[in-house]
Amino acid sequence: MNQNELKSLVGKKSVEWIKDGMTVGLGTGSTVYYMVEELGRRVKDENLKITGVTTSIRTANQAKSLGIPLKSVDTVDHIDVTIDGADEISSDFQGIKGGGAALLYEKIVATNSDKVMWIVDESKMVDKLGRFPLPVEVIPYGSQKIFERFEKKGLNPAFRKDDKGGLLLTDSDNYIIDLHLGQIDNPHELAEYLIHQVGVVEHGLFLDMVDTVIVGRQNGLEVLE
Ligand code: 5RP
Repeated sequence: MNQNELKSLVGKKSVEWIKDGMTVGLGTGSTVYYMVEELGRRVKDENLKITGVTTSIRTANQAKSLGIPLKSVDTVDHIDVTIDGADEISSDFQGIKGGGAALLYEKIVATNSDKVMWIVDESKMVDKLGRFPLPVEVIPYGSQKIFERFEKKGLNPAFRKDDKGGLLLTDSDNYIIDLHLGQIDNPHELAEYLIHQVGVVEHGLFLDMVDTVIVGRQNGLEVLE
C-alpha cells in the first residue's frame, strides 16, 4: 500500500468511533480528507446525525459540500471527539502539527474536546520529535523581529511561503515560521519558551493532548490508547 492508501484506510476507520448525536471536531489535512468523505457518506446514506466543528476553511468547505451540519466552537457546549492528522508523533505520544498551517484552530478545537484522536500513516511515528519542521504562527507585525530572535537562539527559522513565493497567510491572516530543529529533546521547555514570545499566536507542539492514535501500517491498522 502506498502512503495515500494508508491515509485513506485510517481516515475511513476513524469514522467508526463517531456515533449518532455526537459533536465532532474535524481536523485538517490529506488524511482528514478521507475521514470527512466517509463521514459525509454516513450522514447521507445512514442518516447519521452529527454536528461538525471544523478547524480550517478547507475542511469547512469540504464538509459543507457533503452536507455535514456545522457549528462554530463558540456555539457548541462540548465536543465529544476531535479527529485530526499529525505531522509527527513521538514514542511518548507528543505531536507536531501545523504542516497544513491550521495549527491554531486545530489546537483550539482539540483543547475544547473531550477526546482527541490522531490518524496517521506509519511514516509519522518517530522516536523523538523534530525532524519535521516545527510551525510557529506569528502575527505579521513584528514577525521579522521574532524571526531574528529565533535565529539568534539557533532555532533555524524559515518563513513559510505560498505557491506563488509570497509569505503564506493562515486562515487568521498570520504568518508561519517553521523551525528546522532536527531533534527536540525537551518539547515542554521549548513550548514554554515559544508561547511566551510576544507576537507568537500559537506553535505546533501538541503536548499531552491525544487519547487515541490510529496508525496505518503495511501489515494492518494499529490502535494505540
Ligand atoms: C494541518 C495539520 C495536519 O493534520 C498535518 O499536517 C497532517 O497532514 P496530512 O494528513 O496531510 O499528512 O496539522 O495543520
